[in-house]
Amino acid sequence: MATHEDDEDSIINPFTMLLTHTENDDRVTSLHHPAPNQNHILRSIQSTVIIRQLPTEGLSFQLWPAATTLVSLLDRLRVDPPNSPLFTVLSDGPLRILELGSGTGIVGIVAAATLGANVTVTDLPHVVPNLRFNAEANRNVVGSSGGAVTVAPLRWGHADDVEAIGRDFDVIMASDVVYHDHLYEPLLETLRLMMEGKKMVFVMAHMRRWKKESVFFKKAKKHFNVDVLYTDTPSNGSRVGVIVYRFVNKVKFQNRVPHRE
Ligand SMILES: C[S@@+](CC[C@H](N)C(=O)[O-])C[C@H]1O[C@@H](n2cnc3c(N)ncnc32)[C@H](O)[C@@H]1O
Repeated sequence: MATHEDDEDSIINPFTMLLTHTENDDRVTSLHHPAPNQNHILRSIQSTVIIRQLPTEGLSFQLWPAATTLVSLLDRLRVDPPNSPLFTVLSDGPLRILELGSGTGIVGIVAAATLGANVTVTDLPHVVPNLRFNAEANRNVVGSSGGAVTVAPLRWGHADDVEAIGRDFDVIMASDVVYHDHLYEPLLETLRLMMEGKKMVFVMAHMRRWKKESVFFKKAKKHFNVDVLYTDTPSNGSRVGVIVYRFVNKVKFQNRVPHRE
């Protein structure tokens, strides 16, 4: 009989479970082996973004499904702003955007290219060289729409990394960053450090794979109001599609003057 714990860990989305654990939980690899270089045509700006993937290097060096969803939505936002699910969060420009766990950097690069935004793409230090490579490879596309991409290391849960990057952002973005449970708290800590006392919005695209991920959302809702901006149609063989969430700071009432009878 399945225990409660088994149930919590069970995979709910087997066809899109691209991650497979190795001995060390930090090192996971992909079950699929995508082409190293991917061209993404952005119809809105009639340009192509080129992204280098290094699949043999691990999960940080390849494109994940939620990133693809955000890329399509950013392209649509530029074509038809009022009818875009991202309109409410990305319409006031010029925006300063921070991307967390950028991986190949495609989301940040496309945001800079389609919105003319100033984007800082970040990831663990060993991922930064490939991020720099991709940022450099797309410098002209990004520059021609008035955008810019900066690359920096940012480890979740490290206050000194937040300090080094600063908190001058309007929006934080991320895709496919909720997977290993030991990363839930550090990711939330970085969001709290970045967003506390600020009118910043966190836009997160997420492909649900395990039931245990509900723990992340439960923890997040203690600090943020979380709502759904968009739900993608499930791809072939999947039960659920990528969901795009908006997180905003909860209004704090602690400092309110007590009501007198
Ligand atoms: C599943 S990948 C998603 C990559 C990319 N956002 C995408 O959707 O294609 C998760 C990303 O989070 C990054 N990551 C994992 N743990 C991290 C940490 N502690 N601090 C910063 N980034 C981390 C990984 O290096 C990886 O690039």
